Amino acid sequence: MSAGNNDEVNVLQISIHGVLVGYLAGFKNGRNVLSIADSFKNDPKRPTLSLITHPSFPNATKLMAAPWVQNQRLHPVFSNLLPEGSLRELIAQSLKVHIDNEFQILSYLGEDLPGAIKATPMEPEDIPDYVLSTHGKAKAVKFDKTTQENKFSLAGVQMKFSMKEKEGRYNLSKDDALGDWIIKTPSTQHKFVPLNEYTAMSLAGMVGVEIPEIKLVELDKLDNLPQINLPNEKQAFAIKRFDRDDNQRIHMEDFAQILVKYPHEKYTSANYENIGKVIYDFSGDGLTDAQQFARRLLVNILLANGDAHLKNWSFVYPDKVTPRLSPAYDIVTTNVYIENETQYALNLGKTKEWYTVTMAHFQWWADKSGIPWRAIKPHLDEVMKKARERWPEALTTLPMDEAHKKTLRSHWNTLQDDFKIEAKK
Ligand SMILES: Nc1ncnc2c1ncn2[C@@H]1O[C@H](COP(=O)(O)OP(=O)(O)OP(=O)(O)O)[C@@H](O)[C@H]1O
Ligand SMILES: [Mg+2]
Repeated sequence: MSAGNNDEVNVLQISIHGVLVGYLAGFKNGRNVLSIADSFKNDPKRPTLSLITHPSFPNATKLMAAPWVQNQRLHPVFSNLLPEGSLRELIAQSLKVHIDNEFQILSYLGEDLPGAIKATPMEPEDIPDYVLSTHGKAKAVKFDKTTQENKFSLAGVQMKFSMKEKEGRYNLSKDDALGDWIIKTPSTQHKFVPLNEYTAMSLAGMVGVEIPEIKLVELDKLDNLPQINLPNEKQAFAIKRFDRDDNQRIHMEDFAQILVKYPHEKYTSANYENIGKVIYDFSGDGLTDAQQFARRLLVNILLANGDAHLKNWSFVYPDKVTPRLSPAYDIVTTNVYIENETQYALNLGKTKEWYTVTMAHFQWWADKSGIPWRAIKPHLDEVMKKARERWPEALTTLPMDEAHKKTLRSHWNTLQDDFKIEAKK
């Protein structure tokens, strides 16, 4: 943003699938305001920006009537599109902006955000008068020119890149080309995370969890990565993007966006009953998606994944309007990294304890979510049957670190009888 006073404003045009949503004005003091265009509000067939703007969402009309005004942080629908951890630091540093300046970061990454939203910097003369007049004596100014390449945004804490695959090599997407794989490079903090994630996701896939295509990729197959610290490990974890199809965008949003929470509230502001209820009530196939959600909740317990917080669940909008539960992602056996970890991320049946949770908690969960238990129980039984039949053998050949395998087997043996899996230690 150019130097100047608090009346100077930059404006981003917000669109989705080429449809105008509105104008996001950013002031120097951090105040930012989204004015939603009448054409969007009044279109009963509008593409879904967020579940809260879906025509059948109870308060959609009311929510869009007034501008969305925030200070420093952007509204959660946009704030949750930005990286949280090391990728955010990398971008803020190269842009020379403060890490909390979300408007600036969005304006830089706006052409390649998760899902299908675009945020495009506007020239002052292109901004409609009515947008500026809502901001008193505000004067529109040009955005500062930036020249860095590799402008993609991915949410989450770990370092990751959006890359395009060609003949077994992976390139950071450039110009208008969109990346179709997320590449998570090994961590300097925790050992063998890519092997762990590949193994946990593979095990999940064996018991009926819907997962995207995944791979382990040799680091020397990754081209033009920026300078980052890497440990002495050879492979990265690759997962095919379900919000991209060739160069097309498929809209998605995570449950922090859906529940209008900020990233820092991802562990504290909701429970699995809240998510279950939204899935059952609003998905285009509520029962199928609730059954899939229940399977994943159980699998996260079985795999000692303590990190299935709000941002690790998403809706995807394949027909641009109707939500469906997205494929699973970010399933990692976290208890191998966190000493004495005994809890999963959000409450389920009023508990978070891996070693006390039973089927009875799942029944309570289903009841509270308004989902018929008789339609859920067979899915949980099937997960247990398949996990007991397949996992002990599969784990011997999957590439997880041997010490981590040992911890996972011991976790299996420590679960309550409903969920225990016998495996040689
Ligand atoms: N296959 C996929 N297709 C599209 N988007 C994805 C996919 N996998 C992950 N994402 C998106 O990217 C974000 C980051 O991915 P992921 O959760 O794996 O990273 P992370 O940094 O390990 O997360 P956390 O902060 O939870 O540890 C997710 O929150 C989700 O929005
Ligand atoms: Mg995540």
